[in-house]
Amino acid sequence: MGLKCVIFDLDGVLVDTSVFHAKAWADLVRGEGFEPPVDLEDRVKGISRMESLKIALGENAAEYSESELMALADRKNACYLEAVKTVKTSDLYSGARALLDGLRMAGIKVALGSASKNARAVLDGLGITADFDVISDGTTHKRGKPHPDVFLGAAWMAGATPEECIVVEDAPAGITAALRGGFVAVGLGEQDFLDQAHIVVDSLQALSVAKLQALHAEYRVPELTGTPALPSIEIPRTRDYVLAKGALSASWENLPWVSLQPLKHETRPVPATRMKMQYSETALYVLVEASTQTLQCTIEEDNAPLYKEDVVEVFVMPDPWQRVYLEYEVSPLGYDLTLRVANHMGMFAGYQPWQMPEEQRIEKQVVVQGGPAESGACVSGWIMEIKIPFALFGPVAVVPPTAGTVWYGNVCRIDTEEGERTHLAWSVPSGESFHDYARFGELQFA
Ligand code: BG6
Ligand code: MG
Repeated sequence: MGLKCVIFDLDGVLVDTSVFHAKAWADLVRGEGFEPPVDLEDRVKGISRMESLKIALGENAAEYSESELMALADRKNACYLEAVKTVKTSDLYSGARALLDGLRMAGIKVALGSASKNARAVLDGLGITADFDVISDGTTHKRGKPHPDVFLGAAWMAGATPEECIVVEDAPAGITAALRGGFVAVGLGEQDFLDQAHIVVDSLQALSVAKLQALHAEYRVPELTGTPALPSIEIPRTRDYVLAKGALSASWENLPWVSLQPLKHETRPVPATRMKMQYSETALYVLVEASTQTLQCTIEEDNAPLYKEDVVEVFVMPDPWQRVYLEYEVSPLGYDLTLRVANHMGMFAGYQPWQMPEEQRIEKQVVVQGGPAESGACVSGWIMEIKIPFALFGPVAVVPPTAGTVWYGNVCRIDTEEGERTHLAWSVPSGESFHDYARFGELQFA
């Protein structure tokens, strides 16, 4: 796994705009009659505008309403934009031009991962907008650093996994964001200030393509080294069939099982859980076999929050660029919840019930094994078979998929024993959330 993409922070990495940010904040705060914190410049590095405002105002922030705070942030931004107008090509940090050219020559993608909503104006001023294959910034991601969103977004847009990227950052919050996202992090600045980084250099001149490649090889996230970043499943074609009550289609018989794994934070023993997929001209079929000791399923209606109890969840995202995916949940009692999730790197635009005309409805059947289908019952497990019509995805994908089409998705499960919930998933590289859609596995239609 070689280095595919280098993600640069902007302010303080490619150009010294940190002084402009700090001065604009300090002038604003003084204008309000307060003294800004002495270490203001360092403390707002990498931090989003609204969070920076709260740092600049300190405890005085409590005197303002939310709308007043917004107005203050707007005022600071107007001053900052005035200052940024002066940014020109010669302000580009030494070493940046050679590095950008070197990366281009080496075929390594160049991405911007900045918290700033003004990133494009600064890149334009520097005359380097065209050097970037990908721009991920404060306009595309709401949560600033130390959340990893801007970097995950950059990697995703560059078609790379975090393990294939390296991040160059000057702010402690940015280093934390990079590490949380699973990136190798190069700090630019002083060792003491950036001590979490894999390595700290004092100037871009200390970096070359060869050096970045060597750093990447040396430090890439150890627990993922040598393992494929994302799982993939080859989905064979079958004839179209209607689910038969209580009997599984014979077409499942020769297909291999794929196991679900515990999410990273799980420490409890994991109930064996496995799945298979196949597809027909009209639908994707998913079969899940979930062993368990007792059932936890008190909900007895469709479209209820089934995820609060024992549940199997199937995620299907045909087109990552749409950032919309299906989340289909089934309980051991056979109730279901069909959601359309719009998710922009953890910024949920909400879950919406996915209203479907009859021909788009997902068919399902559930069989409980080794005991009665009742909440609290001691059983050995449950099996879920579903048929997701491709017509459901009409608005968000080219349907039906054909041989060679790749969609993305996950199969997840929550099992509750003695009040403790265990989370499992087929694709778990990030290991934290079922909704980490950048880490969905590949659904390869054969
Ligand atoms: C980061 C800066 O790059 O962007 C922060 O380091 C700044 O200081 C943040 O607050 C947000 O920038 P903007 O331009 O959207 O206010
Ligand atoms: Mg910075």
